[in-house]
Amino acid sequence: MLDAYTLWKIAHLIAMTAMIGATIINGILHLQARASTPSQAETLLRAILRINHLIMLPSLLAIPVTGYFLATTVGYAFTDTWLLASATLTFALIAAFWVGAIAEKSLHRIAAASKTAALGERYTQVFNRVAPIGTGALLLSLVAIALMVVKPVL
Ligand code: HEM
Repeated sequence: MLDAYTLWKIAHLIAMTAMIGATIINGILHLQARASTPSQAETLLRAILRINHLIMLPSLLAIPVTGYFLATTVGYAFTDTWLLASATLTFALIAAFWVGAIAEKSLHRIAAASKTAALGERYTQVFNRVAPIGTGALLLSLVAIALMVVKPVL
């Protein structure tokens, strides 16, 4: 019989895996779109926006919710360094998603409106803004995993 701890932990780990998977897939689609024609880029960016909507946002919201119930089920104190740091990182990840998703909508609009054979200067400018956000989010996620596994108490 599965207890509450096991169920919350499974949900927490599924949310985390989905969020990291979506980050990596979106990165690959971005690189593909960058080397494509505007019409191909428009299709790839539509896929990115759909992944954001169906996977990234729900999993980003599920991580703190399942994490909260996990912590209260086990009885961890929210003042513990690792938990406080992970919660802060999670809100940084949500903020990064917000900024990145706005830039991705702009990229989609630019690709859809493009009348030329190649993506223009404006696309490159916005892409160069969004790329570090994606890479940074992936690195923050890895730091969060390390904190959760090691659970350092300072
Ligand atoms: C508000 C944010 C978060 C809260 C409150 C939270 C809470 C928790 C708690 C209490 C545990 C310990 C469960 C146990 O002792 O078995 C845990 C485990 C875990 N969390 Fe989080 N978490 C949060 C965010 C994250 C994030 C952003 C990630 C990764 C991207 C993450 C990945 C993990 C992993 C991999 C484990 C399993 C660690 C292990 O069993 O050794 N968590 N989380």
